[in-house]
Amino acid sequence: MNTHMKIRIEYSKKKTSLLCVFVLENSTTVSGLGKFDAKTSSIIDQAVKDMEGKLGRLSIIPFSGKNSIQRILLAGLGKKEEITKDTIRAVSGKIAQKARELKLKEFSIIVPPSFVEEPVSSVSQIVEGVKMGLYKFDNFKSEKSERSPDLTIIVSKSDKISKAIKNAEIIADSTIFTKSVANLPPNECTPTTLANLAKTISKNSGLKCKVISEPELKKKGFGGISAVGQGSKNQPKLIVLEHNNGSKNEKPIVLVGKAVTFDTGGISLKPGDRMDEMKFDKCGGCTVLGIMKGVSELKLPINVVGIIPSVENMPGGESYRPGDIIKLYSGKTAEIQNTDAEGRLILADALSYGEKTYSPKAIIDFATLTGACIIALGTNVAGIVSNNKKLAEKIYLASSRTMEEIWELPLNKDYMDMIKSEVADMKNVGIGRSAGTITAAAFLRNAIKDTPWVHLDIAGVAWTQAGTKEKSYNPNGATGFGVRLVLDYLQNL
Ligand code: BES
Ligand code: MN
Ligand code: ZN
Repeated sequence: MNTHMKIRIEYSKKKTSLLCVFVLENSTTVSGLGKFDAKTSSIIDQAVKDMEGKLGRLSIIPFSGKNSIQRILLAGLGKKEEITKDTIRAVSGKIAQKARELKLKEFSIIVPPSFVEEPVSSVSQIVEGVKMGLYKFDNFKSEKSERSPDLTIIVSKSDKISKAIKNAEIIADSTIFTKSVANLPPNECTPTTLANLAKTISKNSGLKCKVISEPELKKKGFGGISAVGQGSKNQPKLIVLEHNNGSKNEKPIVLVGKAVTFDTGGISLKPGDRMDEMKFDKCGGCTVLGIMKGVSELKLPINVVGIIPSVENMPGGESYRPGDIIKLYSGKTAEIQNTDAEGRLILADALSYGEKTYSPKAIIDFATLTGACIIALGTNVAGIVSNNKKLAEKIYLASSRTMEEIWELPLNKDYMDMIKSEVADMKNVGIGRSAGTITAAAFLRNAIKDTPWVHLDIAGVAWTQAGTKEKSYNPNGATGFGVRLVLDYLQNL
């Protein structure tokens, strides 16, 4: 999929096939379009009135062939008091899709006046919305979609604006990268594929990459990863990416992401209905891949480590079973009650390894961990569970800026007690289905000591599913949830 487009800045537009301007609801005129003759101006004013600036509404005014501006596109932003940090991003995605539909080679967007949004924020949202809106997963289609049109942003030039554009391009590209890997079908994306991708990223950047395979995994004590991975001929991998760009003795931030390239449930086999969606069970790991790519391209002056445990959860003669007792990297034992609760097993190993190896400042993990999270919060809000108020607060702040919504669930001792086992230190399911998202998080909590930690359960938000709110910049498939959020958090450290 070609989302490479040129992005330029110009102070005013002399020649373009599509000049786009944002319109607030019920405004009678728009600013920034420049001078037109009286007749044209009255046509534009009439069109502005007619489209009413309703959120997401697009209205095209075509001009005659000899005009240097071939069309004007009015794009509704809705009511001024209802503008969010997402409005310009979402509307820009729609504009870009319209430009592609018209098969244009280029189009131009006028940055809205600063009483709508700060110019820097507007420009970032325009770039993100346009780039993400034009991404399409067409790797396996014989007929590819149109080439992405180039974009000119109409704004007065400054270092701040140029920097914002560069920054937003990297953030959008990292998110698109995450989506494009997460969308891969399970026959084309195994743990080995992910490991090779990580190696490729590291070759093209300053990242250090290490991959641990079998029999090393088993020998080193990664009992969770080994057990879940043993049922598949596609062997498990532990992928580690390091970005060392802070001072030498500065503790890193560790990011951990679940990458189950396909989750059949194993011996506790899932029902067939919509099982195909379990190709998205690798989304947490893909999020970490995208963040690491972004961190290195942004050259953030910090140390960050990405850890991705990757397995395929399959039933078979070699599979782990309900009743098995395994030993995790932490040294704690776990009784398997359901082989479909595999994510917490591989994550626990990765979390313990991350804490022990790097003594990090903070750990953030991402996982499509529980169906229960969809029951609790639906498909537009991710669940978070944390052991540290301050860290959770910072993640909330980032979330409010990137509009990737989160909601915290509690984790106290009573929940920890729910995963106690009769025969081992813990069991991999709680008590029935009650508080399923929290008991899964409780299992993860046992993998670390007291490092500040936030767990994001992205089961409902990592890909578009029934109930997902439509957003132009999240076309059907993986959403890359968390990439923008964590890059924002890391940039604001
Ligand atoms: N990957 C699934 C969670 C999931 C299910 C995400 C549906 C998105 C949509 C996870 O591995 C799983 O199967 N969890 C079980 C846990 C249960 C067996 C305790 C679940 O949620 O049913
Ligand atoms: Mn499962
Ligand atoms: Zn799973």
